Amino acid sequence: MNATLSLGRTIGLRSPLLYGHFIEHFHRQIYGGVYMPGHPLSDGQGFRTDVVEAMRHIHVPVLRWPGGCFVSAYHWKYAVGPERTPMFDKAWRVEDPNTFGTDEYIALCRKVSCAPYICTNAGTGTPEEMSDWVEYCNLPNQGMFAAQRIRNGFPQPYGVPYWSIGNENYGFWELGAKDAQEWGRLVVESAKLMKHVDPTIQLSAAALADLDWNVNLLKHCGRYIDWISIHRYWNLMPEKNDFATYEETMAYTNDLDTEIRKVRGLLMAMGLEKSIKIAYDEWNLRGWHHPNVHTIRQGVDVDAYLTPRDLNDRNQDYTMADAVFSACFLNTLNRNCDIVGMANFAPIVNTRGCIFTHEKGIVLRSTYHVFDLYVNYLGDEVLESWTERGKEMAVLDKNGRQAAVQELDVLATRHRDSGMLAIAAVNKHPEQARSLQLPEVPNGVRYRAVTVQGNSTESYNDIGREEVTLRAGDWKPFHAGLTVLLPPHSVQVIQIQ
Ligand code: AHR
Repeated sequence: MNATLSLGRTIGLRSPLLYGHFIEHFHRQIYGGVYMPGHPLSDGQGFRTDVVEAMRHIHVPVLRWPGGCFVSAYHWKYAVGPERTPMFDKAWRVEDPNTFGTDEYIALCRKVSCAPYICTNAGTGTPEEMSDWVEYCNLPNQGMFAAQRIRNGFPQPYGVPYWSIGNENYGFWELGAKDAQEWGRLVVESAKLMKHVDPTIQLSAAALADLDWNVNLLKHCGRYIDWISIHRYWNLMPEKNDFATYEETMAYTNDLDTEIRKVRGLLMAMGLEKSIKIAYDEWNLRGWHHPNVHTIRQGVDVDAYLTPRDLNDRNQDYTMADAVFSACFLNTLNRNCDIVGMANFAPIVNTRGCIFTHEKGIVLRSTYHVFDLYVNYLGDEVLESWTERGKEMAVLDKNGRQAAVQELDVLATRHRDSGMLAIAAVNKHPEQARSLQLPEVPNGVRYRAVTVQGNSTESYNDIGREEVTLRAGDWKPFHAGLTVLLPPHSVQVIQIQ
């Protein structure tokens, strides 16, 4: 037997927003992704019904939009109403038809039954433009912007609960980037105006695990904001589409909670840990590939900066490495559910997302099945858990350095309503199965394993090819001291009733 699982006290109830998602006006996420008016698979409002159905199946709880870098030069007013004027998207250097705007986004959220989360333009935008957006969405009928929404055919306010002030305005790559001092001032003034329009909204502000930036932000704005937004991509590939192998990816699992620990410590040091939660509102193992735009040297020939974006859409690149890593990160988020209240997989459709669209349908990539497993089979109460004698395996990271990685990543949860125990067990080992002795469960009578797995670490899904699947095993009799086998490179939820 390789490990024995023990359980401790309840850590907390994880927010359903931990399984959130993000969609940006980039490449084929919106146009050619979820929004394809006139396509045979689209409904009367232009949304791909197969994509909406797949989003509903994993109960997307919140969808962050419209960016990402895109938003830092975006003006929402050009994308509402009967006349839509195409804009030149200065972030990604393409023309955006503006046919997908706030009203279409809200319609999508209603179809998916998810909460809207709007990220505002703190690059070239102003606090007034942000608060006008809140007027348009959330005021019943006062003022010119609510009146405009009503004229556009939407009499009821949208009640958008989550708003972010800016994206990554700390980064040199962001249009309208700010220094820490400017940022603190801008966030305060934006927060005041937005909350004067609707005091019930929850506000996030772009941050990072950098001490100076966050201290200044929180010193200025601690009492105005409800969330602090952090982002992380581990396998960064903006210029070179250079995928980390399975083994290199496992090395990244030693570095899953770095940002959370830093921000948690800062919030506690400033006495804000009870009033501000972390929104990890962009995360993905794979950074997006978009060469020659995040630098001053912009590509001139489309083959230098536009065509390469198609490389994000190669399904063969999204393997069990993505599934195993994502499960380990979701375990980390659950373990920190007392301070992390939201997380958004970036993105959900196409690019590095879990749903890929093509002319005749969709492909559910390996990461989609991990969300299916966690959302539909794991519990909502997070328990402390540990495994004695956890084995380690030696791997080489992306820089060729040796790393020792725990083979198993185990998270214990309970379904609050039924009391059923549900244990997420990840076996990172590429070839070998591992056994796990389950804890004593008084009155436990039966158990089953629900597994996401492919034949090899390189398994992936594509058009007409389904190698990575989610399989629910049969219920079997449970007894004390039971040991289960965790297949290699697999993610399982073991339910004990
Ligand atoms: O690579 C995509 C970008 O990553 C998003 O637009 C931005 O928010 C992050 O830097």
